[in-house]
Amino acid sequence: MTATQVLILIPTYNEAENIEAIILALLGVATELPDYNLDILVIDDNSPDGTPTIVRTLMQRHTNVRLITGKKQGLGKAYIRGFKYALKQGDTYDALVMMDADFSHNPVAIPSMLAKLTDSEDYVIGSRYVTGGTIPGNWPLLRILNSRVANFMAHALVGIDKRVTDVTGGYKALRLSALANIDLRDIQSAGYFFQVNLLHAFLEKGYSVAEVPITFVDRRFGVSKLRFKDITEFLYRAYKLNPDSTPRRLVRFCSVGATGTVVNLAVIALLINLFKISPFIADPVAIEVSIISNFILNHNYTFRFSHHKDSGIQWRSKLLKFNAGALGGALLSFLIFSLIYRYGGAHYIIADLCGILVSTGWNFWVSTKYVWRSVDAGA
Ligand code: GDD
Ligand code: MN
Repeated sequence: MTATQVLILIPTYNEAENIEAIILALLGVATELPDYNLDILVIDDNSPDGTPTIVRTLMQRHTNVRLITGKKQGLGKAYIRGFKYALKQGDTYDALVMMDADFSHNPVAIPSMLAKLTDSEDYVIGSRYVTGGTIPGNWPLLRILNSRVANFMAHALVGIDKRVTDVTGGYKALRLSALANIDLRDIQSAGYFFQVNLLHAFLEKGYSVAEVPITFVDRRFGVSKLRFKDITEFLYRAYKLNPDSTPRRLVRFCSVGATGTVVNLAVIALLINLFKISPFIADPVAIEVSIISNFILNHNYTFRFSHHKDSGIQWRSKLLKFNAGALGGALLSFLIFSLIYRYGGAHYIIADLCGILVSTGWNFWVSTKYVWRSVDAGA
């Protein structure tokens, strides 16, 4: 059996104090892994602190150390350059390892990550949050929160599989043949959102993802390169990445609801003023017309990703379910209104708003769980 060829990617920006030690540590790991050939690629963005010079000196003694340099465009862009480098080498490499230069990612985890990868997986995360993984005991609450919120956002906004616990981590091993099938133009993040972006791309293609626990420690020297810009980019891209995420469906659902109110008002005004119809008939008609217009908009806009072209029967069954749900919602709204207005002593506007809020939640729930369940549920 020939050895598995691995390229270790290390992006660096001002890591002069860490880079030599981490490369030497990796070369040490390499000697203990006879089944693997490890090359190291440092992707530096012309660090002014002399990082590339240190790497060049090491390259004279170690032929399996490489360096590419470029202008500073962020962590994500640096990794993309590393990917392109690896892919350009044809069949040279089987796997990539991605890691920080600062010793937060202990090189001793590499054998277990590579073992899992070559066993069967396509993407292996060195994970802080899977059972057995840890974060530094002295991390300030703010840092813990930052990391937890980022993971939460990635799950909630992007809809990343909940079984993957550490979705923002930067330590990973991946199969190069899988990466070759991913369109790198889909991975646009310049900064730290890149990690989520890449994971999402692998999951979308149906590649297998696994986690191995790691002990994440604080960087040895220097400072984190995380900037405020990374956080804003993270939130923006997390929201944008998946147009069919629950939060984005909810935003569309609420805007459809707003148009429903306008339709309702227009119909009731028309029936009463133009056709002189009794308000007690005009109101239920207006309600029903707005439910139907909401249904049509939700079908073609809010939940447009959740169904194929439905047959007439499927369409009618969805309409019936939606209608039943909406009538239930109206009843619920009336109930909440009555309770809060009567027993809570609240102003009628407040009571009404509470009713609208609860019934909107109810309608959204019914729509997601029963009406537009998933792409194939109705088929
Ligand atoms: N080439 C290049 N260009 N390298 C960069 C850049 C850049 O713009 N920004 C950061 N790096 C390098 C750093 O020199 C380091 O080797 C690595 O990328 C990670 O940067 P850190 O500054 O150490 O990141 P961190 O410790 O705040 O964040 C780590 O954990 C996060 C999850 O909590 C990283 O692993 C992140 O990728 C990860 O999302
Ligand atoms: Mn770090």
